Amino acid sequence: MQALILAGGKGTRLRPLTVYTPKPIVPFLNRPFLLYQIEILQRAGIEDITLSLSYQPDKIEHLLGSGAEYGVNLRFVTEPSPMGTGGAYKFAANNLRETTIVFNGDILTDLDIAKIVEFHQSKKADATIVLTPVENPSAYGLVETDSENKVLRFREKPKPEELADLTTNTINAGIYVLEPNILELIPEGENYSFEYNVFPDLLEKQKSFYAYILKENYWRDIGTTESYLQAHHDFLGGKIKGFELEKSRKTEIATAAVVDRKSFLDDDCIIKPNARILNSVIGKGVLVEEKAIIENSIVWSHTRISSGAEIKNAVIGRSCHIGRNVSVTDGAVLGDKTSLTDYTKV
Ligand code: GDD
Ligand code: MG
Repeated sequence: MQALILAGGKGTRLRPLTVYTPKPIVPFLNRPFLLYQIEILQRAGIEDITLSLSYQPDKIEHLLGSGAEYGVNLRFVTEPSPMGTGGAYKFAANNLRETTIVFNGDILTDLDIAKIVEFHQSKKADATIVLTPVENPSAYGLVETDSENKVLRFREKPKPEELADLTTNTINAGIYVLEPNILELIPEGENYSFEYNVFPDLLEKQKSFYAYILKENYWRDIGTTESYLQAHHDFLGGKIKGFELEKSRKTEIATAAVVDRKSFLDDDCIIKPNARILNSVIGKGVLVEEKAIIENSIVWSHTRISSGAEIKNAVIGRSCHIGRNVSVTDGAVLGDKTSLTDYTKV
C-alpha cells in the first residue's frame, strides 16, 4: 500500500499566506500542514508516500526532506506544469504500482485510513472515495450514492439550481483508494481531472466505484483563509482528536503577562509584561510587547507586535512589523513582511 498526496495547487484562495509559502506547508499549529496527513498515513502503516508537486516544489522538498524524521519514506514528483489532479496521479505512475491512497493536500482530518482500506477491500472496489456531509456542497464535489454505498453520480462544484432538488449533502472529502487499473483511464501527458474526468468515466464504464461516508470524524479543507483560521479554532477547542502537540518551554513569558491555557506558543518568543494572549497560536521567535492583545488569532514566526497593539480574529504572516496601538481585526489576513505604522486600523 502506498500514498500519493496531491500538493501542486497554487493555493490562490489562501493568498496572501501562500505568496511565499506553498499551501501544503503553511504552518498549522506551528508545524507544516502536510505533517498531519503524513501522521495519519503513518498510523495506518503506510510509509511509502509520494508528494505530487508543481508550485514552489523546492520549498516543500527542502522542508520535509526524506521523511525519516517522521517514520516514512517520502518521494517528490514535480510536474513541469500543473497537470490537474488526475494528470498528476498519472504523472507519478512510475511510483504507483499498487493500491494507492490519494489525498488532496489541503484536507485536515482525524480519520482512520486503515478502516477505509478495509472497506475498499471488502467491496473489491476499483475505486473508493471518502465522503463527508457539509452544509453547503456548492464549493465541493457532490456525490450521490445508493443504499449499498455504490457511487451513482459525481458533480463537481454544482450550481445552486442543480442543488435545489437534491436530497444529499455528501461531498467528496478528497481522499481516495485507487487500484492501479484506474491509471489506464487517464491519458499520458495531458491535463486531466479526477473530478471532471476520471470519476464520470468510472461511472460511465460501470467500474466498481464505492463511497465510504464519514460520520464522526473531523474533516475540513483548509484552502481558504477563513477555513484556515477556523481549523485552528477547532483544534484549540478540542474538536480534532489524536494529534499530540507539545507546548514549548523555551519561550519567555513575563510574569505579568497573560497566556491562556488554550493558546500555543512556539520556541524563542518573548512576551512582555501586561501583554495578553488568548485562544491564539504564536509562531517561533515572535515578540509581543507591553499591553499588546492577541485574541482568537494566528501569528506566524519572527513577527513583532508592538506595545498596545490589538490583534483579534486575524492571521498575521511571517516577519511582520505591527506598530504601536495598531488594531487588526475581523478576519484580516496580512502577508509576510507587512509593516503597519503606529495607530493603523485594519
Ligand atoms: N500535483 C498537482 N497538480 N496537484 C494539484 C493540481 C495539479 O495540477 N491541481 C490541484 N492540485 C492539488 C491541490 O494542491 C490540492 O491539494 C488538491 O489537489 C485539490 O485542489 P483544490 O484546488 O484544493 O480543489 P478544491 O478544494 O476546489 O476541490 C477539491 O477538493 C474538495 C474537497 O476539499 C475537489 O476534489 C472536490 O471534489 C472536493 O470536494
Ligand atoms: Mg481544496
